[in-house]
Amino acid sequence: MDLSNRTVLIVGGTSGIGRELARRFAAEGSTVAVAGRSAQALAELSGEGFGTFRIDVTDSNAVEAARNDVLTQYPGLDTVITMSGVMHLEDLRDPTHFKAARATIDTNLVGTIRVIDAFTPHLIRRGAGTFITVTSGIAFLPFPPMPTYAASKAAVHAYSEALRVQLDGTGVGVVELVPPAVATAGQEDVNPRALPLDDFAAEVMQLLAQNPTPDEILVKGVQMHRWAERDGTYADLVAQRAQALAMLPGHEG
Ligand SMILES: NC(=O)c1ccc[n+]([C@@H]2O[C@H](COP(=O)([O-])OP(=O)(O)OC[C@H]3O[C@@H](n4cnc5c(N)ncnc54)[C@H](OP(=O)(O)O)[C@@H]3O)[C@@H](O)[C@H]2O)c1
Repeated sequence: MDLSNRTVLIVGGTSGIGRELARRFAAEGSTVAVAGRSAQALAELSGEGFGTFRIDVTDSNAVEAARNDVLTQYPGLDTVITMSGVMHLEDLRDPTHFKAARATIDTNLVGTIRVIDAFTPHLIRRGAGTFITVTSGIAFLPFPPMPTYAASKAAVHAYSEALRVQLDGTGVGVVELVPPAVATAGQEDVNPRALPLDDFAAEVMQLLAQNPTPDEILVKGVQMHRWAERDGTYADLVAQRAQALAMLPGHEG
């Protein structure tokens, strides 16, 4: 994909990976708008020259209202990135985890579906465009302290696959970005060995720039997660990752 002439909306672009990709798409020459809930982050990004939109992906009305505003301002929108996500640790032996489970599914899975539904008619009408969905290495190799997170990302992977097939022939493509652990605010407490954001984003832009763009954007650091089952390393890696259960309060790991 040519990264220099696109009109991109990054939902969940107010921090972390989304904000970094917003800056990089803009640096390549694309027109970029970002959306999220944080008024302060939106104001800062507006100061950098981005179009900004308030959106809460757990609220269908808010998603539709934001969609209308975005398309009024950017009628040539051709790329929608569904970056919004939350990562919660959950101790499944404590039933109060359910609140986190529900919030995770509502944001990561149903939020993704809400945003895709909102923009699908526009992209089909254009006859050209791209959805970039965002999953995780954890979709393919579970990380036991974040069970619903893993489930939500595995679900977005499956959804992306079906969406790609359903949109075949419309001109609208579906690309799945599969990050490994990347050093953003969401990861600081979880993984001190996360990939530096700059290195990750540079590799992602290189992979996106390929023609044709691959269905899955897999940086080198995520290959071992993505292909663990195929490579026969799955059981050992899951066992290793079980040690991370020690990060749950009151859990010996
Ligand atoms: N960092 C990693 O290690 C890693 C690894 C694999 C996958 N990922 C995925 O990559 C994506 C970005 O993660 P990140 O590390 O950059 O995290 P982050 O810095 O916490 O960013 C999360 C983004 O999601 C937005 N968001 C959360 N809830 C939302 C809601 N209800 N409505 C609208 N926007 C919402 C946040 O914006 P507001 O707070 O402004 O709403 C923010 O822009 C997530 O989908 C995450 O699961 C991250």
